[in-house]
Amino acid sequence: MTAASLPFVAAYRPPAPVPHAAPLKPRQYIRALTDNPLTIWTQAQFEEPYVEIDGWLLGPRLIINDPDGIRHVLVDNEANYLRDDLQKRILTRTIGLGLFAAEGQAWRAQRRILAPLFAPRAVNGFLPAMAEAAAAGARRLADLPEGSVIDAAPLMSAIALDVLERTLFREGFGVPLAELSRHSNAFIEGAGGVSLLDLFRLPSWIPTLRALRAHRSRRFIGDMVDRMVAERRARLAAGAAGSGEGEIRDLLALLLDAADRETGIGLSDREVRDNVLTFIGAGHETTAGALAWTLLLLSGAPDVRAAVEAEIDSVLGTGPATAETVADLVLTRATIEEAMRLYPSAPFLGRAAVKDDVIGGRPVKAGTIVMIVPWIIHRHQRLWSDPGLFDPGRFMPGRRDSIPRYAYLPFGAGPRVCIGSVFALQEAVIVLANALRDHRFDLVEGARIEPTQRITLRARYGIPMRVSRRRSSDRQVG
Ligand code: HEM
Repeated sequence: MTAASLPFVAAYRPPAPVPHAAPLKPRQYIRALTDNPLTIWTQAQFEEPYVEIDGWLLGPRLIINDPDGIRHVLVDNEANYLRDDLQKRILTRTIGLGLFAAEGQAWRAQRRILAPLFAPRAVNGFLPAMAEAAAAGARRLADLPEGSVIDAAPLMSAIALDVLERTLFREGFGVPLAELSRHSNAFIEGAGGVSLLDLFRLPSWIPTLRALRAHRSRRFIGDMVDRMVAERRARLAAGAAGSGEGEIRDLLALLLDAADRETGIGLSDREVRDNVLTFIGAGHETTAGALAWTLLLLSGAPDVRAAVEAEIDSVLGTGPATAETVADLVLTRATIEEAMRLYPSAPFLGRAAVKDDVIGGRPVKAGTIVMIVPWIIHRHQRLWSDPGLFDPGRFMPGRRDSIPRYAYLPFGAGPRVCIGSVFALQEAVIVLANALRDHRFDLVEGARIEPTQRITLRARYGIPMRVSRRRSSDRQVG
């Protein structure tokens, strides 16, 4: 199938906050930023390649929507742009100083140590385990009474955690996945947003209502990670956790065993712990979000859904998605990519300039916060035709090549590009195909869908969906 031969005409415009005509007044701005940063933007930001913002609260800021400017910051002169302080504060209190938040030499050493686990060969090796987790997820759907209403986000989050247990954390988390998913959700909701303390740079230990609500979940996850590390350390010490020649070892083994090949120095206890936290957080929330938003979009566009179902029927028949079949699910993959355009799991990439620089002919002073905002870039009037429209055809062979590399950034770009991008995309295709093979998801009528930014993009009130079994008359097995 190519974009030209798609059996549907794109017509669905999914929910998103409407940009303001003029900048918000200071008090409104602070309220919007701490409640839902997606609601601070103005129309000009979706139309102009560069927008400078006054420094009255957060210092001078530059929003970059120009692909060349984005490449300059993320690739060509990336050493001059580090994560900004506000982002570092939020990352440090949520996923700690693991690969995502580390900078400089510590980052380089961690990335080198972990890269082998995400190389294409290793990810291919994970496909069967991903397929098992996806099949187990589909079996759980089959156990639901017909017409059950579920929230798509926790459903997908539990499946994504199962994938992590079968791939990166092979000895498991040691807790029920539904419980971990619930705590992880509460924790990100409580600690993953911008608070007034952050804006006014007050000490993070001052308790806020949100942080207090997240406290129990923080303890649950912290204790779990400590147990995982201690148990594995004990087994390694006893010589029992080694793996055979050539076998891919899991993340914890790599972390504990790691000695950087350049320096010969291993990771500190804190780096090991924070990386476990990082990979649990970054490795499931994001992919689960992409899948949940995909289900919402398909529910709003029944003709696209019918085409995706037809592809899944024809590629899988009645069997599960496997390592062999995943490459043929072209429209399924394009639909997920379009979902990540409209609802990027990481809606904001912030950097701060270390030294003075020039971007797109504009002088940029040291300390300027440079904002690369996939939420805006992916809906920018100059970069996309009819950006608010859900149209998976954009990512089909024939059309995909015309998308400028730096206009589509669900996984970022440059040296700090998502280490798990190949892993995530394969996982998402396999999980979606298994879920849709026998089931259909319809948004509950009247449901309030409100995209909200914490560290990741979330649906504030969830995505309640009615699950029904696809009837044999719906199926077009080819
Ligand atoms: C749909 C799923 C995913 C999305 C949309 C996503 C998005 C991103 C983005 C945008 C970045 C770059 C952030 C920046 O430049 O500031 C990133 C980095 C990262 N991602 Fe992902 N991610 C996904 C899945 C995963 C998975 C499955 C894993 C691990 C299993 C993972 C682990 C990481 C890590 C560790 C980093 C930091 C990399 C570094 O700084 O070297 N992500 N991700």
